[in-house]
Amino acid sequence: MITLASTARTQARALEERAAGRSVGLVPTMGALHDGHLSLVRAARLDNEFLVVSLFVNPAQFGPAEDLNRYPRSLEPDRRKLETEGVDLLYAPPVEEMYPSGYQTYIDVEDLAQRLDGASRPGHFRGVATVVAKLFNIVQPHRAYFGQKDAAQVAVIRRLIEDLNFPVELVVCPIVREPDGLAMSSRNAYLKPAERPAAAILYRSLEAARARYDAGERSGPALAQLLRDTVSSEPQAGLDYAVVVNPDSLLPLTTIRSRALAAVAARFGDTRLIDNVLLGE
Ligand code: PAJ
Repeated sequence: MITLASTARTQARALEERAAGRSVGLVPTMGALHDGHLSLVRAARLDNEFLVVSLFVNPAQFGPAEDLNRYPRSLEPDRRKLETEGVDLLYAPPVEEMYPSGYQTYIDVEDLAQRLDGASRPGHFRGVATVVAKLFNIVQPHRAYFGQKDAAQVAVIRRLIEDLNFPVELVVCPIVREPDGLAMSSRNAYLKPAERPAAAILYRSLEAARARYDAGERSGPALAQLLRDTVSSEPQAGLDYAVVVNPDSLLPLTTIRSRALAAVAARFGDTRLIDNVLLGE
């Protein structure tokens, strides 16, 4: 595996592979890698001849009061994990390489970026869409891999790819969970010991909604209320949102006719966690 901090060298290397007729895969990450990230890397390794992983804690997607400075950073252990997975190129640029002084161009995926996490994190998806578009231009992958864990991010990137005509196939990988159902996340490391078991309420609420859906419930508001009540039954959970929406538009569904996304977000102490399940698949 080669590790590059230089955008120009990364772009030259990836283009060389593409020009030689090899398929190029990209897995964008912010590091502090866990098995959720590695599941994307493994899927991408199987599908592509040349595999690029990016590791960049993107300041543009963090709000001023958010956790940019305390976000976990572990480049050396991450590097070793990616090497073990057979990654070809690790692109780990410093901030000045991604956003040199004078940088001015941002991408707004207008309405979608205001929904779900975008509603509680203003500017978040503008930062995500911008860095992902830059990564697509730098690496020019045939396929890019994202986790269903960040369902609103998937909707934003699907729109970005379509609206800006990126010739990239979006591959969405399932959520990897801890044994008690908690979705793996770099932010789980922030949880205090007493908060950690409480956080499993997110998945339990989604399981309850899935069971009610499987029993025939098709009312979006009724399922959303069940999510809300279940999360609120945990005293340590501060509910942010609990919704049943169309997975592409992220707009609330009154009646579920085909696919639906049940999604929750809550705070445990200072830590905001999200989770979701797809219904009707
Ligand atoms: P990050 O939070 O590091 O996540 C990188 C990728 O791993 C995302 O596509 C995310 O959905 C996926 N992922 C995280 N936890 C997962 C889990 N438990 N199961 C499956 N996939 C999981 O998401 C970002 O970084 C950034 O916004 C990024 C896209 C890199 C842009 O900066």
